[in-house]
Order: sequence, then C-alpha cells, then structure tokens
Amino acid sequence: MVRWEWYEQEAEVRQAATQMIAQAAADAIKARGAFHLVLAGGSTPRAVYQTLNALPTDWSAWHVYFGDERVLPADHPDRNSVMAQSAWLGQSPIPRNQIYPIPTELGLEAARASYLQTLAPLGAFDLVLLGLGEDGHTASLFPGHDVGAAQDASDVLMVLDAPKPPPQRVSLSANRLSNARQVLFLVTGAGKREPVQRWMSGEEIPAASIQCANGVDVLLDRAAWPD
Ligand code: 6PG
Repeated sequence: MVRWEWYEQEAEVRQAATQMIAQAAADAIKARGAFHLVLAGGSTPRAVYQTLNALPTDWSAWHVYFGDERVLPADHPDRNSVMAQSAWLGQSPIPRNQIYPIPTELGLEAARASYLQTLAPLGAFDLVLLGLGEDGHTASLFPGHDVGAAQDASDVLMVLDAPKPPPQRVSLSANRLSNARQVLFLVTGAGKREPVQRWMSGEEIPAASIQCANGVDVLLDRAAWPD
C-alpha cells in the first residue's frame, strides 16, 4: 500500500519529513530504546538532514545506516556518506560507532561482505528514507536489474553497471529495505513527474518493489504531481 501525501511547496515536504523522522525516533526510543534509521542518497534529502541536529532527542539511541553507496574513495564528494556527513552527521552527537557507512572504498565485494555483517544482527529498520530517480530507480536499484525483491534475496547487492554514474555501487536489496516499520520516499521537482505517474499507474518500477508491511509513505511537492 502506498500513501501519496501532497504538498504545495518543497519546503513543506522537507518540514513534513523532519517531523516524521522526529516522531519515528521518539516512538522507537520509547518502545525499544534505540532508533535504526536508513539514509537516502541523492540531493533531495540534504536539506532535511540539515534540520536534524535541532531535534530534541536522545542522540545516543540513534543508529544510522545507508541504503546505497557509490564505489568511490571514502572522502569523495559524490559519496552518500560524505553528503550526510557534511549536511548533518559531522556536527552530530550520535556516537561514531553507531554510524554505519557502506565501506565501498574497499571495493565492491569487500564492501558488500562488510555490510552484510553490519546488518546481520539487526531486525527491522525503524525508518527507511528513499528517493526516486527519473527512471524509477530507488537506492541503487535500477530498471532492468535484479532489485532483490524475492524473499530469499540477499540483504546487500553489488551493482556493476548502474545507468546513473558512477556505474559501480552497493545497494540494500528491495527485500531488506522493505523490512522496516516505516518507509518514507521524498520526491520533489518536475523531473519526478513521469516516474510518479508510472508508479501510480501500477508499473513495476524499482521504487514499487519496496513493500513495507505498514505501507509506504511518498511525500511529493506540486512540481512532482502528475498532470
Ligand atoms: C543515490 C540515491 C538515489 C537517489 C535518487 C534520487 O545514491 O543516487 O540513493 O536512489 O535517491 O536518484 O536522487 P535525487 O534526490 O538527487 O533526485
């Protein structure tokens, strides 16, 4: 089940996302004493990440993962971990050992093996943040590729020929991203109108393969609304 949530302005999408993250953290920390959050890459979530340090929360209970990473040196500006670090995590009191970048600087296979180990002890994520690509991809799950939606799919996939550069990436599978209490897509800008239209009309784009038991929330701004 997909819940489409419409806002006029991109700023309203960001505000709603910040509130949903704050609420998910509060609920998880109250219920289980920890909050396990998966971050999206891309440019859309950056402004949301920049607001998070202002939240009143118990940062020692936060654990931060990544949905995907590009195979690049650890300090490369195109890394999702570097974006999150500069927008938020670099100034965050979250304990360093509770931030789990995908170590793609080690190469594809070693990064995948390492992240499989990181995720092994963990059950459902509390909240998974995702973006939507213009071709319908999410995380680094691209059209025409195996997105790992089967129940026995591996938690972590190696991507060798992504159409969006760089071609080599590591991504959590659709199956692992769906294993969450809450999934939230942030979708803004006119470039997203076409994939939203395709998703709404039932096409099997990769984003549609994320199917959380509690449903999936998609926050959209006016520019991304289909005609
Ligand atoms: C990545 C992302 C990717 C992203 C979408 C949307 O590493 O590139 O995880 O799935 O979320 O491509 O990107 P924008 O937010 O930049 O439009």
